[in-house]
Amino acid sequence: MPTMELKHPLIEHKLAILRSKTTGTKEFRELIKEISMFLCYEAMRDAKLEKAEIETPIEKMKTKKLDEDKYAFVPILRAGMGMLDGVISVIPNAKIGHIGMYRNETTFEPVNYFFKVPKGIEKREVIILDPMLATGGSAIDAIDLLKSKGVKKIKFLCIIAAPEGIKKVEEKHPDVSIYCACIDKKLNQNKYIVPGLGDAGDRIFGTK
Ligand code: PRP
Ligand code: URA
Repeated sequence: MPTMELKHPLIEHKLAILRSKTTGTKEFRELIKEISMFLCYEAMRDAKLEKAEIETPIEKMKTKKLDEDKYAFVPILRAGMGMLDGVISVIPNAKIGHIGMYRNETTFEPVNYFFKVPKGIEKREVIILDPMLATGGSAIDAIDLLKSKGVKKIKFLCIIAAPEGIKKVEEKHPDVSIYCACIDKKLNQNKYIVPGLGDAGDRIFGTK
């Protein structure tokens, strides 16, 4: 599936506040959470439901339910943690793994420093979380790691994506669907997304 961009006036409105340099940590976190909920909603459009029987106060009915246990969210540390609250409020019983990665500031290559995923990860659908898809290096390495553990179905959720990063991920992992709130213009010479929102990790955690 080609990269899916959430195109909606509410998302555009929320992104405008999120991107603004005057938006503080509290509001920034809240907006990342809200947009992540919408991304998760969209990413679950192809979810397979299982038959179920329930009883309403009025009568019994046949219906369908999601087996939430089949899903695992994997935020890429640090910034991906900001998206976790939002997606967990949509699928509260999903499992959670963590991949620690930072971008070397001179080579812009990702460095992996942590990897911990739930047992039986190879049988779950894995939804990777990272607000920024810039060069695509971190996304590609995270997907490589998960595939090396036998994971077969992977989706990648981000808030803002650069065309350069999308192209790289699509070429290396054409089976992974990318969902983003907005595809921006380009990367600058420091490999930051333009216009972007700055450093997502620093803005979520207030580290700068
Ligand atoms: C940011 C972002 C991604 C990565 C994207 O993380 O959260 O993980 O950069 O860049 P790429 O597509 O070029 O690989 P960063 O290295 O700033 O670490 P942090 O989350 O700890 O702030
Ligand atoms: N990481 C960020 O946090 N922001 C960017 O624009 C690129 C990478």
